[in-house]
Amino acid sequence: MKIAVLGGTGDQGLGIALRFVQVGEDVIIGSRKAEKAENAAIKIEELLKNEKVGTVEGLSNVDAAAKADICILTVPILAQKPTLDSVKEFVKDKIFIDATVPLQSNIGGTPFTYFSLWEGSAAERTASILKCSGANVISAFNNISSSSLIRIEKEIDCDCLVAGDDKEAKKIVFDLIEKIPGVKCVDAGPLEQARTVERITSLLIGLNIRYKTHYGGLRITGLPEK
Ligand SMILES: NC(=O)c1ccc[n+]([C@@H]2O[C@H](COP(=O)([O-])OP(=O)(O)OC[C@H]3O[C@@H](n4cnc5c(N)ncnc54)[C@H](OP(=O)(O)O)[C@@H]3O)[C@@H](O)[C@H]2O)c1
Repeated sequence: MKIAVLGGTGDQGLGIALRFVQVGEDVIIGSRKAEKAENAAIKIEELLKNEKVGTVEGLSNVDAAAKADICILTVPILAQKPTLDSVKEFVKDKIFIDATVPLQSNIGGTPFTYFSLWEGSAAERTASILKCSGANVISAFNNISSSSLIRIEKEIDCDCLVAGDDKEAKKIVFDLIEKIPGVKCVDAGPLEQARTVERITSLLIGLNIRYKTHYGGLRITGLPEK
């Protein structure tokens, strides 16, 4: 199974790609510029040079989406629509994970304030833009910071809330994400719940600022073991 991280040259995408390559997955970094993606892939290889790993390559977002079985979107909210428009004909019937969060820092405000979208959440906006492609949109990775992802020498002390409407697709995403050491996936319900999950990101950013850390995350307790 090949995983494309669209916008994988940025903090969040690079961290997700790094963690998946570390656990043996085959990853394609996507970028608007193939050369930038190739450089990010080289950086991941260098960071993991002493470990047994999966493969990583860098391609344009379009080529990455076309070649992958699963795509993950990790771009700022203002880049969401243009990026999706560029890849939508290549994601037919694929699982499409959305990690984008509409934070006011993208429109001149603070990173600890969420802004509402007409569709309800970034993930639902992705589903609406990709509707004709038949992609299966799942929301995940919103509450795990890039700092925790990049710190590969440590397990991630954080749950991953996963929202989506297709149970089978969610199960595939659960199994994939739980390969990352320390991460436990929690079924947050239908895609509509991304409205709440994405807002938690702005809360966590505020906590991280107040407590002067980069690693604040979320653990849900009291749920039965799977
Ligand atoms: N950083 C975190 O800790 C974190 C945590 C949870 C969720 N998120 C969410 O994950 C997403 C990515 O965050 P990030 O911090 O990785 O963002 P970022 O570093 O600012 O951007 C990621 C990538 O998006 C592409 N991009 C940037 N501006 C663009 C534009 N105007 N048009 C098209 N592509 C553009 C760039 O890739 P190319 O130039 O290579 O095309 C860039 O490397 C955001 O929605 C964020 O809210 C981030």
